[in-house]
Amino acid sequence: DTASQTEDFTGTGGETRQVAGGDRPTMTTAQGIPVSDDQNTLRQGARGPALMEDFHFREKMFHFDHERIPERVVHARGYGAHGFFETYEPLTDLTSADIFQRKGERTPAFVRFSTVAGNKGSADLARDVRGFAVKLYTQEGNWDIVGNNIPVFFIQDAMKFPDLIHAAKEEPDRAFPQAQTAHDNFWDFASLSPESVHMLMWAMSDRAIPRSFRFMEGFGVHTFRMVNAEGKSHFVKFHWKPKQGLQSVTWDEAVKINGADPDFHRRDMWNAIQSGDYPEWELGLQVFDEDFADSFDFDILDATKLIPEELVPVQIVGRLVLNRMVDNFFAETEQVAFHTANVPPGVDFTDDPLLQGRNFSYLDTQLKRLGSPNFTHLPINAPKCPFHSFQQDGHMAMHNPKGRANYEPNSWSGEAAGPRENPAKGFTSYPEEVSAPKVRERSETFADHYSQARQFYISQTETEQTHIRDAFAFELSKVETPAIRSRVLSHLQHVDMDLATSLADALGMELPDKADAAREPLTGLEPS
Ligand code: HEM
Repeated sequence: DTASQTEDFTGTGGETRQVAGGDRPTMTTAQGIPVSDDQNTLRQGARGPALMEDFHFREKMFHFDHERIPERVVHARGYGAHGFFETYEPLTDLTSADIFQRKGERTPAFVRFSTVAGNKGSADLARDVRGFAVKLYTQEGNWDIVGNNIPVFFIQDAMKFPDLIHAAKEEPDRAFPQAQTAHDNFWDFASLSPESVHMLMWAMSDRAIPRSFRFMEGFGVHTFRMVNAEGKSHFVKFHWKPKQGLQSVTWDEAVKINGADPDFHRRDMWNAIQSGDYPEWELGLQVFDEDFADSFDFDILDATKLIPEELVPVQIVGRLVLNRMVDNFFAETEQVAFHTANVPPGVDFTDDPLLQGRNFSYLDTQLKRLGSPNFTHLPINAPKCPFHSFQQDGHMAMHNPKGRANYEPNSWSGEAAGPRENPAKGFTSYPEEVSAPKVRERSETFADHYSQARQFYISQTETEQTHIRDAFAFELSKVETPAIRSRVLSHLQHVDMDLATSLADALGMELPDKADAAREPLTGLEPS
């Protein structure tokens, strides 16, 4: 009886064998067959050929061979933790979302922080935007706020996203640089897309090299809606404010840390939570209505713009606490699937053309990445409230409908009838009126690419401004094509003349004509 053998012993092959007994369970195959020997394949004679009959070996190797799934096409490197969200006060005037109806209520949460451009094994301290994705397991379904640590984005229309990411990731012929913006393709794309200038200012600032995930802000970026029980809608921007404060490292520190400990941000989160020092963020809302939205000199549907907090103060409505690391990185952090379209009743979308595109992309990519439409059955993705539908079958189905009915309407009664739609409680889209010709064009109201970039720059301290200048100088010094550097300089003259002049100096270049930025795109450059 192997269960009674508690001593490790050396087998005939000289290997150390650890056998079941005491509190050590008996190892089994995936079929539950007890395993007697996990060290040696079944052979014809101790020195003979392996036998096909060895089902334990075949199953073990087959499973190992299939361990990898595709990494995320962006945000591949990330780190997650569990926690809860606590509602400070009911927000019934603003939203019917169940999570905001009761003071002090705690809702389970899972958060995944990430870099954007680097591959899964890249270093934590890359100069990059950080993802800040929050899954709230509310009593009316999962609500995902799939945000970043910077309040604006590079592009205005989802159509440009594949190009942005192709340009930012490693170049297709040489497969480097990984996880860096310091290369020709990225700056070529960015300089030909003036809408990216505001985000470039943030990306070159200290915000893009946070000291750790615990010291970052988070932003939903897009304007969303909240709708109350009477059907009244308000526009909302989401903010996460770290109770730990906001801290970054300098570039020199980042480079050293990457060399010494590329897992620095992971280790920081693990150590903090394991030692009971739970990081916290407060959820803040900027709330405004349609009339107020029309009074801004930019468009609230444009994700390259933020709403200045002086105009619409951030109202704090709850807190997020992370207090438990995952049991298993792959099962939870790797398989979690966030999606901007996961919103509960009381939260709704706007026509931001970036958000609209994201609402298509996430579900699509997750089917590829997780391999089955049933990825919502995985414990990390499944709602923690009751859920019922007639969706069935497919790879790995674990929640098929029970009983007779798998369609509706049906005439059955009781449990056999299955779930029914619920007009009173169910999600209803805000009945926004839209009447316009079908066109493929960018709104005029999206045209000002420089004003907020300038406001951001002049809001920085002198030291922070120097860091921005130095970051541009470092990144552009890696760009081999002078015409691309020059085009960036011509954009920056529209942001701040001193910045552009001192950057030209640092790069040893003449300041180009300010109007170059508006001229025809560069073409015909010979790649090096
Ligand atoms: C991840 C698409 C813009 C935040 C992803 C993924 C895709 C994607 C395909 C991988 C998802 C997965 O495999 O599970 C897009 C598209 C965008 C866009 C098409 C624009 C059209 C943004 C913006 C933000 C953002 C503006 C921030 C507000 C994130 C985050 C993740 C992510 C945080 C990682 C989620 C995680 O930790 O699993 N995005 N994205 N994305 N995206 Fe976006």
